[in-house]
Amino acid sequence: MSVPLYSPSEEHEMLREAVRALADEKIAPRAASADESEEFPADVYKDLVAADFHAIHIPEEYGGAGADALATVIVIEEIARACASSSLIPAVNKLGTVPLLLSASEDLKAQYLAPVARGDGMFSYALSEADAGSDAAAMKTRAVQDGDHYVLNGTKSWITNAGISEYYTVMAVTDPTAGPRGISAFVVEKSDPGVTFGPKEKKLGIKGSPTRQVILENVRIPATRMIGAPGTGFKTALATLDHTRITIAAQALGIAQGALDYAIDYVKQRKQFGRPIADFQGLQFMIADMAMKLEAARQLTYAAAAKSEQAMHGTPVKDLTFFSSAAKCAASDAAMDITTDAVQLLGGYGYTRDYPVERMMRDAKITQIYEGTNQIQRMVMARQLLK
Ligand code: CAA
Ligand code: FAD
Repeated sequence: MSVPLYSPSEEHEMLREAVRALADEKIAPRAASADESEEFPADVYKDLVAADFHAIHIPEEYGGAGADALATVIVIEEIARACASSSLIPAVNKLGTVPLLLSASEDLKAQYLAPVARGDGMFSYALSEADAGSDAAAMKTRAVQDGDHYVLNGTKSWITNAGISEYYTVMAVTDPTAGPRGISAFVVEKSDPGVTFGPKEKKLGIKGSPTRQVILENVRIPATRMIGAPGTGFKTALATLDHTRITIAAQALGIAQGALDYAIDYVKQRKQFGRPIADFQGLQFMIADMAMKLEAARQLTYAAAAKSEQAMHGTPVKDLTFFSSAAKCAASDAAMDITTDAVQLLGGYGYTRDYPVERMMRDAKITQIYEGTNQIQRMVMARQLLK
């Protein structure tokens, strides 16, 4: 497999510095309280909108900043280094809107991308259901045509930022006899009559990002809100994940970098046996391994981002699916290892909420589960390799 060369430009590095400055000043101080209160950090959203980092991927023709995939990865990575929950603002705005960018009519793009770019509303992505997680095509939510409208009924589960987002890409069955080819994608608005939300899930981590059901009861929407042609919704949903699993990789990299940076500072300060614990080779080897795993995952993620960018501009990239799954899988596994080791390096203190690494370890876990579990990523990679 050939890897296109990606080269973070001077602009990418300047962007990283700008996001890191904002994250250090405004987001890091909110990370523990967002976790403890389990409340969406609306002030962080405002700060991200003011800096134009909330949905930086939206093309300029729809009022966005037009950042490329690598720039978007860098933004998510730097926000996640401070607060994983907050990093889901740009990540899920991308997840919700890529179906439109890939498949929607120009009218639909103009109507819905501009408000997201302005910061007037966020976009969520509703694929999963209670009995259709890994097997997403087993969904039951129905959309039935009625003249020039569709009527949606069903419950989408586990939807990130549900209740906060104004807009939802909802996958629903339009032809129950056609399997995955009978699924279509729609834009649903929070204000559409019949849309309600379940209670917030009580989670291990990313507690500042609400996860709720989106309940659709006789939600009547214009047929023009269908994204692409009838029956193409599942393909659009999976093609979207080819681009956005890379953003979950970015989130994992950021969480891991935050934990590694904190642990390095700590071992240089903490003394046992009359010397800094950083002097002990056993810990030095742990730190070397943590940084090695992180950098390997970062290189894979940036290579995947370069492929995503090519594909977004119409160049067929046959191994994008492999790279996207590989990046998500490698970065999330690395993040789980690195954050767990960071807790170990802080000893008993690492196990308490007085230090941020226990939150980072809890936050890292979700990156191995959502946007497809890492078992599903391995299945997707193997299918690509064996076909
Ligand atoms: N791009 C475009 N089309 C694709 C595709 C891709 N990457 N992969 C498959 N397809 C097409 C296939 O060609 C097929 O179309 P045809 O019938 O026309 O040939 C159709 O999609 C169905 O494909 P499969 O037969 O491979 O489908 P499957 O039912 O076996 O399932 C799966 C495939 C990989 C398991 C998929 O269901 C999957 O990825 N599951 C995991 C679900 C997931 O990732 N959910 C994420 C939810 S979002 C989230 O979690 C949010 C968050 O992080 C914040
Ligand atoms: P299951 O599919 O029941 O899997 C259970 C176990 O079985 C896992 O270990 C899995 O890897 C394994 N497994 C299943 N099938 C296979 C197989 N064929 N081979 C090997 N192992 C297998 N979804 C959305 O649509 N939008 C969102 O915004 C969203 N946000 C989320 C936020 C959070 C916090 C969480 C927890 C989930 C979110 N999800 C979202 C749903 C997420 O994508 C699913 O939870 C995930 O895809 C797994 O589905 P499941 O939970 O039903 O697990």
